[in-house]
Amino acid sequence: MKVTVFGIGYVGLVQAAVLAEVGHDVVCVDVDENKVARLQDGEIPIYEPGLTPLVQSNYQSGRLKFTTDASEGVSHGDLIFIAVGTPPDEDGSADLKYVLAVAETIASNMQKYKIVINKSTVPVGTADKVREKIATVLQTKNKNIDFDVVSNPEFLKEGAAVNDCMRPDRIIIGTHSAKAETKLRELYAPFNRNHDKVIVMDIRSAELTKYAANCMLATKISFMNEIANLAERFGADVENVRRGIGSDPRIGYQFIYPGCGYGGSCFPKDVQALIRSANSVGYQAKILESVEAVNYTQKEKLFEYIMGHFDHDVKGKTVALWGLAFKPNTDDMREASSRVLMEKLWEAGARVQAYDPEAMEETQRIYADQPNLKLMGTKEAALAEADCLVICTEWQAFRAPDFELIKNKLKQPLVFDGRNLYEPSRMKEYGLQYYAIGRGL
Ligand code: UGA
Repeated sequence: MKVTVFGIGYVGLVQAAVLAEVGHDVVCVDVDENKVARLQDGEIPIYEPGLTPLVQSNYQSGRLKFTTDASEGVSHGDLIFIAVGTPPDEDGSADLKYVLAVAETIASNMQKYKIVINKSTVPVGTADKVREKIATVLQTKNKNIDFDVVSNPEFLKEGAAVNDCMRPDRIIIGTHSAKAETKLRELYAPFNRNHDKVIVMDIRSAELTKYAANCMLATKISFMNEIANLAERFGADVENVRRGIGSDPRIGYQFIYPGCGYGGSCFPKDVQALIRSANSVGYQAKILESVEAVNYTQKEKLFEYIMGHFDHDVKGKTVALWGLAFKPNTDDMREASSRVLMEKLWEAGARVQAYDPEAMEETQRIYADQPNLKLMGTKEAALAEADCLVICTEWQAFRAPDFELIKNKLKQPLVFDGRNLYEPSRMKEYGLQYYAIGRGL
């Protein structure tokens, strides 16, 4: 099938590559000339396991193309995805200007029936706005062309994006058009094997499903962080509580890991956006407000532990930091807990020696002018002459380190762990003073 994807970000690029891989003929359009040129040279702008060979092989086979030419994109695709960003505007609402600009471009260049598919995470009612925009532009151009707008939210996770897209848990299709439903079922047929993963519903419910999923997951995390904070005060161990409640299948083991807060480009933005959307229809989303508030304070947790330990004076101290990305297997630093920690440490006069397996370049780009940040080539090098070690991201490479080496390299045998990677009793045996989240401090 002929497919066009507007917006070559995480979602757009992965979706396009995966569709090309199963045989569809895909054109990707982006306004960023530099990004398009890099992709045409085989350079992938993001770190995502498995993505580079997928993009390169499909580009070489001609099933995946990149262009800045919107009219070429519109004339190519019978199905046109909108996968551009919806950044938060000043009050946290999702800003739809890019989505609506693409809708306008599609309408301006459209010559025959098209199915326009919203892939971006967009507030409930956006498909209606996209439909209105296209209809208005067609009307002013005196063009009488039929089209459908579909909501088809994406549920991929960074770091596992290719796999998530290849093997989706569900394929949500929000549409009122039988014709569009048939076409989308055909498009996704290669991913819909074994059992039917397609769930068809009305457009507004599909739009809300996306927010509800992310907000539910964020709620699980903030809830568990709250329990961790209680465990700490009661002298209990949240890791035992986690295992205890996760064994109930109604609760489940996933997304109940306490830590130094959730980050990334989705949870913080989507929780905020749903709070704002709720306000706009006269409803106060109290649970979500609390989810956000708990996460905000949780991101300051490691800094509080450090300040408490050093009697509220870290001036001149050097902190070794393992993990910069907002989670493992990505180089994404958006809303990362490490940023809150580093910025607070710098403000308090401390220096940071950091290591991350993938996010060093991105960190360098963000903090290019920060004199109190040193990026180190290995996790061991980051320890040299530091006053303590702090862990912000649970990369596999941090799970079984050489504890003797940590003790010998640090000036003090002191570890602050924002992801609960180690057993407190083992740390004690190694002679390391260990602060973790909610583990009966
Ligand atoms: C999230 C959702 O998981 C995807 O399903 C969704 O499609 C995506 O947002 C999106 O809207 O595009 P992602 O932002 O890539 O995916 O990251 P997650 O793996 O969900 O992790 C988010 C944050 O929660 C990370 O900072 C992670 O460290 C934290 N987390 C996760 C915890 O603190 N505890 C947990 O138990 C799980």
